[in-house]
Amino acid sequence: PLVSMNELLPQAKAGKYAVGQFNMNNLEFAQAITNAAIAERSPFIFGVSEGALKYMGIEYTVAIAEAAAKKSGLPIALHLDHGSNFDIAMKCIRAGFSSVMFDGSHHSFEENIKLTKEIVKAAHAMGVSVEGELGTIGGVEDDISVDAAEANLAKPHEAIRFYEETGVDALAIAVGTAHGMYAGDPNIHFDIIEAVASQIPAAIVLHGGSGVPDEMIRKAIAAGAAKINVNTENQVAATAAIREVLNKDSKVYDPRKYLTPARSAMEQVVTEKIRLFGSNNRI
Ligand code: G3H
Ligand code: ZN
Repeated sequence: PLVSMNELLPQAKAGKYAVGQFNMNNLEFAQAITNAAIAERSPFIFGVSEGALKYMGIEYTVAIAEAAAKKSGLPIALHLDHGSNFDIAMKCIRAGFSSVMFDGSHHSFEENIKLTKEIVKAAHAMGVSVEGELGTIGGVEDDISVDAAEANLAKPHEAIRFYEETGVDALAIAVGTAHGMYAGDPNIHFDIIEAVASQIPAAIVLHGGSGVPDEMIRKAIAAGAAKINVNTENQVAATAAIREVLNKDSKVYDPRKYLTPARSAMEQVVTEKIRLFGSNNRI
């Protein structure tokens, strides 16, 4: 069955590894992620953005995630990624999501606390975990675009107050990563991760995991990050594989001919991330 993140993240935080949130954008993403996790005996989280939800449809999304849980026997969380309001969070919970993120980072600090708190109250009553966000993460994801200059880092004292007032299960804090691939290397503030992770029991989440050098990921986990989100790297790998097939053969018309290599490419990416995060052999 689908499980809440509270069945995955406390163990990760205590064991100094991270559980990957791999975004699901279609059936092939779900299959690639699940196959990699089965082979690696790893728990994982399906992240579904509002854009992906619109693309796949909520019924298909939940059915695919449930099929993945049934087929794999693994503990899998189905998590709304960057939810923008109360209604969408409730809609997902009613449809079968086991976890939701409310991204109130575009509101004022006080408003973010107030809105997050309402979602935590409703979600916890139904056994669903909640992730909040503090500070703004740069880059582009679906319709959410944040200028690098506008992206501001989370302040540890605010993160602690945010946790105490909202009771979130996981907290995404802006520490210098961005959504999408990087032009150069990101400047990750490990000291912020460390300060927040050591002072609150909630799991610290690192967004924008794509294209971050392996050594930085290891340091982020050592500093206390227990959930790492990856989306773009799978998109890039899938599209490169499709482009290669189409460039080689202009007569190909069966989608399976290019989606099969796309799925394999994503499976390879997810396998590497699972090993890097240290969530392999945990089941
Ligand atoms: O919420 C999703 C992640 O933060 C994805 O970021 O596309 O840079 O891997 P990414
Ligand atoms: Zn994100």
